Amino acid sequence: MTRILLTARWPQAVEAELVRRFEVAFNPDDHPFSREELKQALQNYEIVCPTVVDPLDREVLSVEPLRCRLLANFGVGVNHIDLETARKRGITVTNTPGVLTDCTADLAMTLLLMTARRAGEGERQVRSGRWRGWRPTHLLGTKVTGKTLGIVGMGRIGRAVARRARHGFGMRILYVHPRPLAPEDLAGLDAQACDSLEAMLPQCDFVSLHCPGGAKNYHLLDRARLSRMKPGSFLVNTARGDVVDTDALIAALDHGPLRGAGLDVYENEPNIDPRLLAREDVVLLPHLGSATRETREAMGRRVLANLEAFLAGREPPDRVV
Ligand code: DGY
Repeated sequence: MTRILLTARWPQAVEAELVRRFEVAFNPDDHPFSREELKQALQNYEIVCPTVVDPLDREVLSVEPLRCRLLANFGVGVNHIDLETARKRGITVTNTPGVLTDCTADLAMTLLLMTARRAGEGERQVRSGRWRGWRPTHLLGTKVTGKTLGIVGMGRIGRAVARRARHGFGMRILYVHPRPLAPEDLAGLDAQACDSLEAMLPQCDFVSLHCPGGAKNYHLLDRARLSRMKPGSFLVNTARGDVVDTDALIAALDHGPLRGAGLDVYENEPNIDPRLLAREDVVLLPHLGSATRETREAMGRRVLANLEAFLAGREPPDRVV
């Protein structure tokens, strides 16, 4: 029987479904795998189901002898996998697109609203007993309705954020995307394409990132670009931490133009720069984009569909390489 390994625990319902159909090995205490454990996994299992926290880089994927034939990733982003090395080594890689779009978009809106309305600061005041009651000048935030939102990466999640912002908050939507989009993808969004980040950033009250991580977008929001943002604006990142240069972000918060940031992802997760932890003008969440029971179960079922197709000799529906 084909040997399958999950590097992390999944919601119980999908683990049970997997066990009914396959011989599966688990990571009982749900600890993050070390590089050595990942290498052993690739040596001992035909199918490995990793997550975003498993660094499957060139060195790890170059292990000998190699038994793994499929990396069925539990998640849509695959920037933690060196796809070129996987291809060279004959490893198929699949992901779980589509099923986490709505929940990730919801979380981007949560961060946008929390940072604009200073919700984290307010909650900390209430819990620590520092709230002195209603005052006309207490914790004044920034109005969201009718403002301009710039979306970096108008894929499924970017468009879902645009829908929420346009229809729920009457926001004007600008975007940058590497390719022209089909008119049906933009239907009802009233969204305007910009030629470059440089052209879009100075016009936006809010900027939300929805592009892939990895080498291509490493520090896409660097010091020069962040300094072009509109004075008093906000940055939201639910994509990948390394899309933003953390030092430059802190400088843009300290000296302008940024008023605040809402972050769900970080460079070097789960270690968060202590300078961010100390600030009141940032909202910090622990990579919760897809973290609802419904979505995580749907992600598990999507992995299942990919590995079933692979084992039956069919094309996996979500093949990346
Ligand atoms: C994703 O699916 O890419 C989420 O960030 C979790 O990995």
